[in-house]
Amino acid sequence: MKVGIVGAGMVGSSAGYALALTGIASEIVLVDMHEALARAQAEDIAHATPFHSATKVTAGSYADLAGSSVVIIAAGVNQKPGEDRLALLERNAQVFKQVVGAILAVVPNPILLIASNPVDIMTDIATRISGLSPQRVIGSGTILDTARFRSLLGRHLGISSQSVHAYVLGEHGDSEVLTWSNARAGSLAVSDFAAQTGKPITKEIRAEIDDNVRNAAYRIIEGKGSTYYGIGAGLARIIKAIALDQRAVLSVSIVTPAVEGVEHVALSVPRVIGAQGVMTDLFPELDDAEHAALKRSALLLKEKASAVRL
Ligand code: LAC
Repeated sequence: MKVGIVGAGMVGSSAGYALALTGIASEIVLVDMHEALARAQAEDIAHATPFHSATKVTAGSYADLAGSSVVIIAAGVNQKPGEDRLALLERNAQVFKQVVGAILAVVPNPILLIASNPVDIMTDIATRISGLSPQRVIGSGTILDTARFRSLLGRHLGISSQSVHAYVLGEHGDSEVLTWSNARAGSLAVSDFAAQTGKPITKEIRAEIDDNVRNAAYRIIEGKGSTYYGIGAGLARIIKAIALDQRAVLSVSIVTPAVEGVEHVALSVPRVIGAQGVMTDLFPELDDAEHAALKRSALLLKEKASAVRL
């Protein structure tokens, strides 16, 4: 599978690096308006592949995206310290007006994988500009938040995060919803697992995990300027599900017909992902507070996306 990456900054190049190490893609092409940056990133990643894969990694122009099955869009500006993701909307919407059209001129029917923030609204914008089926315009959404949630729950419970089944729904942002009510450790409700293993999830621990998931990016940005390894690995995970037709359940963002009564809104719920993109949307059982929080998140995103004139 050939994968294109538009935007060779830290997010795009980290996705390229994570993907190159898996060996899943036969070829990765990085495109950036700063051509020297794209060339340097591609060359650096290419020097890592001999240790792990045979993936060909190059830099090029939009024309070199021809034949790509998936194109990651990681172009645009990212958060400054203390800045929330929604503040990037105006600037990144302008970038997308140029980038999406340039990709489709060379790759008529790709799966677009959106990483630029605010990712849910950028997914909505890319869907509208491209005219592609919503199932083929996938935002990374809360895949990273879900990973953060599982990692922190696993650490508290003393088990692998891969044995924790818990999702973050809604906006990839401040209004996201950690669904504690249906979180599982193995086949047990996390509350039962915690009680059986003497690791109770107190109100304080729950608040601490919620804060560490919801505000992870702000803390990391304060410390090193931006986040990229987590999202890069998340993007590679989505591509693996597509490339191998895994039918994997991942929390990603696409324009969804209705969520909590809010129509045609891009946000994350668990979805089945295979070779053609999103196959099925899953709406987990939620408690009343989670339903209300998800509705608030959907209304916020709908309002912000509707205000963008293309
Ligand atoms: C983060 C960025 C990808 O949450 O929004 O790290």
